[in-house]
Amino acid sequence: MGKFKINGGKRLYGEVEVHGAKNSILPILAATILNEGVSVIHNCPRLKDVDSMIEILEHIGCKIDFNGRDIVVDARDVKDSEIPDNLMRTMRSSIFLMGALIARNKKAFISFPGGCDIGHRPIDLHLKGLKKLGVEIEESYGYIRCKGVRVRGNEIHLDLPSVGATENIMLAATLADGITVIRNAAKEPEIEDLQNFLNSMGARITGAGTNTIVIEGVKKLHDTEYTIIPDRIVAGTYLCAAAMTRGELTIVKALKEHLEPLISKLKETGCELKTGNDYIKITCNKRPKAVDMIVTLPYPGFPTDLQPQIVSVLSIAEGTSIVTETIFDNRFKYTEELVRMGADIKVEGRVAVIRGVDKITGAKVLAKDLRGGVALVIAGLGAEGTTVVEGAEHIDRGYESLEKALKSVGADIVRIM
Ligand code: UD1
Repeated sequence: MGKFKINGGKRLYGEVEVHGAKNSILPILAATILNEGVSVIHNCPRLKDVDSMIEILEHIGCKIDFNGRDIVVDARDVKDSEIPDNLMRTMRSSIFLMGALIARNKKAFISFPGGCDIGHRPIDLHLKGLKKLGVEIEESYGYIRCKGVRVRGNEIHLDLPSVGATENIMLAATLADGITVIRNAAKEPEIEDLQNFLNSMGARITGAGTNTIVIEGVKKLHDTEYTIIPDRIVAGTYLCAAAMTRGELTIVKALKEHLEPLISKLKETGCELKTGNDYIKITCNKRPKAVDMIVTLPYPGFPTDLQPQIVSVLSIAEGTSIVTETIFDNRFKYTEELVRMGADIKVEGRVAVIRGVDKITGAKVLAKDLRGGVALVIAGLGAEGTTVVEGAEHIDRGYESLEKALKSVGADIVRIM
């Protein structure tokens, strides 16, 4: 149980690089088992969730080498189709093994996945989609047994554009007989990354990034080498940290096309943003202004995964902001901790009203989930005095050595035990 200790009030200045996307590497690692061979993946971040996925893959028989930023997965010998409960519970993304194992072994035996406590997170759309492909699914005593002796392409209309359900169906359909069409699919960039990875192994998938994805089943895949995209949520987190500290940061390996909704809101707060092919530069010289309204929505709307970070910034803005969370039903828990630091935030259901205060002050606060946790770190950077953020292990699930990156641009932050 590590903690971050932050002496606030230091202006962030300089250049910081974004690591590979957590939400790309996790489904892509699961996808490696579709090929009875070797995959080499570049730009892999060293995160707790990546270690958890590696542990699951090793459990089912993969041999894995994680060297620098490269992961080599040898999936020639995948024997097991069962994932024990303790591994399933390490993170939500363990659910990708369901689609991947059905494709590879025609069966999967798993329990319900774990993950951040940010509200109700069912997997009904995953199961409904797989059933449409002919997978037999039996649920009992918290376990899910899937049999996919003959997986056949079909038309699937998702009730909601779920990221995970879209990806799980893509995994199961890649080696199915015939053509699968996913309508009302999620459009997140990480889905396009999964498509590109699978196609680099010989899959035939088109349409990722739009709401209709077409997967033409193939019989066999081949070895591949692939580089994953930069993490847009990490890039967005650094942008918010700069806004919070009235700083000036150049975020390298940040793709502006993935961050338009945040860039537009930060401009509304009065920050200046310049973008290039693979960088975003933010300059903030004044106290931020409040924004009228932020509503989290599926991509390309404002990402729910950046909602806590922007709320931290708005807590010290001039004026009152309203933020509505439409994706998860309990994603404002971290605001109680911000209130301990002096923020004036009222939450009613899915709406938070943030009355900006002149300053927030350091306090001992607790990270209860990944993005809510990093929002507290951002608050600590902008607060007067010392903040201790407990529960660093939640933050380590999605940020590689966060304290080192922030320190390199002037933050006074250390990890303590
Ligand atoms: C993914 C991201 C996560 C992000 C989220 C929303 C990964 C590894 N994680 O999570 O960081 O916060 O997208 O952008 O990519 N839902 C159902 N039934 C289902 C599945 C989802 O009702 O079977 C609902 C959820 O409760 C939620 C909404 O759909 O309200 C969106 O969830 P989903 O897009 O599936 O999120 P994840 O894939 O879990």
